[in-house]
Amino acid sequence: MIEVNNLHKSFGDIEVLKGISTTFEKGKTNLIIGQSGSGKTVFLKCLLGLFDYEQGTIAYEGKIFSQLSEDEKRNIRAEIGMVFQGSALFDSMTIAQNVMFPLKMFTKQSKSEMEDRVNFVLNRVNLPDAHNKMPSEASGGMQKRVAIARAIVNKPKYLFCDEPNSGLDPKTAIVIDNLIQEITDEYQITTVINSHDMNSVMEIGEKIVFLKNGLKAWEGSNKTIFKTDNESVTDFVYSSNLFKKVRRMYIEENE
Ligand SMILES: Nc1ncnc2c1ncn2[C@@H]1O[C@H](COP(=O)(O)OP(=O)(O)OP(=O)(O)O)[C@@H](O)[C@H]1O
Ligand SMILES: [Mg+2]
Repeated sequence: MIEVNNLHKSFGDIEVLKGISTTFEKGKTNLIIGQSGSGKTVFLKCLLGLFDYEQGTIAYEGKIFSQLSEDEKRNIRAEIGMVFQGSALFDSMTIAQNVMFPLKMFTKQSKSEMEDRVNFVLNRVNLPDAHNKMPSEASGGMQKRVAIARAIVNKPKYLFCDEPNSGLDPKTAIVIDNLIQEITDEYQITTVINSHDMNSVMEIGEKIVFLKNGLKAWEGSNKTIFKTDNESVTDFVYSSNLFKKVRRMYIEENE
């Protein structure tokens, strides 16, 4: 579980996160949604410990990050798996080498232990035969699976994904979303996913935090998002015609 309390983050004079508080539970797919520029990536980078922030706290299983020693911070970083916006695979390494990289970085496992683990996670994301391919030889959907395999190879407690299905066709996007949700549930990971995709909201939005201009404008789940009359949320949700129609049908049915 991650607890965020009153998080403020600025770049120079510009405040990008303006006091965000929320919690992310274990075993759940937690979604951060909001328009481009609302602060999703900056927020995730704060969770990742990649950005310092001026005010507020982030606690991992009750431990407030800013109060920890460098060793303790490093331990928490080692428990985080990350899927970056774009897959961010290493072009010059094979898929197996990409997936093995965090094990080499963070563990002292033997070569055969690492190979066993790489085989296991590549199987888990349904890529049992991709070891020796280069990332450039893999499709966009395969690259995302590799990025997910790499993110979970070191058995993370926390999994952060920045727009994991951007650039994928809708069917493949759902496959990736479902894979992340299954893995989250199976290994009881605290997962936080940035998205501006309404399909993801519907598929895996067990908890949703809606950001607007660096503030939390709403939070709820995919079960409640169609019931809210919070204008920022409805603007975002019904920016697509399809959802306007769904909402009209929903209202008519319930009249
Ligand atoms: N390193 C940085 N230095 C200065 N400003 C930054 C930096 N990173 C982000 N910002 C600013 O912070 C704001 C939020 O950016 P952020 O990348 O978090 O948006 P986002 O919600 O992830 O958008 P998108 O959906 O397009 O990915 C933007 O105004 C951006 O210009
Ligand atoms: Mg972003």
